[in-house]
Amino acid sequence: MYEGQKIRLREYRVEDIPLRLTYINDPEIARNLTPEVPYPITLHEEEKWFQSITAISDTYRFAIETFEDNKFIGGCSINDVDWKNGVATIGIFIGSKDHRSKGYGTDTMKVLMNFIFMQMNINKIRLSVYSYNEPAIKCYERCGFKIEGVLRQEIYKDGKHYDKIAMGLLKEEYLHSQSLF
Ligand SMILES: CC(C)(COP(=O)(O)OP(=O)(O)OC[C@H]1O[C@@H](n2cnc3c(N)ncnc32)[C@H](O)[C@@H]1OP(=O)(O)O)[C@@H](O)C(=O)NCCC(=O)NCCS
Repeated sequence: MYEGQKIRLREYRVEDIPLRLTYINDPEIARNLTPEVPYPITLHEEEKWFQSITAISDTYRFAIETFEDNKFIGGCSINDVDWKNGVATIGIFIGSKDHRSKGYGTDTMKVLMNFIFMQMNINKIRLSVYSYNEPAIKCYERCGFKIEGVLRQEIYKDGKHYDKIAMGLLKEEYLHSQSLF
């Protein structure tokens, strides 16, 4: 378990499945997470996803739980670890609407960044975010991520085209921000 000020990152549990399915099928969440056709995931797919979680993989998934009442509020993951070049791609969602825009995302990112840089010895974290997702961009910039590129009109949502923004954070920048460098 990895702890921040408001949350802890813990393993996913089988009892998280129904709520996680509700979270990721929420159109407000789905529109920010995937470029795919917005089509609901089934319980069967979700159970298969849960069964695919293993410690022996290049994907690391955490459930996000609040300190104050141990509520499962979302998830974050490290995907596509490129060990040779030291680059990891991450994703995050705060599924519980009541917990969005209250600092839980920023606290989760801090714990996740520490895990990646200090436990996995990764040199760079990267992510992508859609241009309309202002809360996410604000959260990532506050965590030190910089915009590295804009992929124009890569995303089609609700009848419009939007840009996909590539953001990144280097270990040296992270250490500097923590006064560890
Ligand atoms: C993106 C996400 C993880 C951020 O987590 P969070 O807990 O909401 O983020 P935080 O509260 O730490 O920071 C968000 C900031 O954006 C601000 N914000 C909220 N809505 C906003 C808007 N429409 N425009 C600009 N800023 C906005 C918040 O007020 C907050 O800033 P503040 O702390 O200065 O007040 C969360 O909102 C989420 O899960 N969204 C849905 C899924 C998603 O977008 N995942 C990321 C895909 S790249």
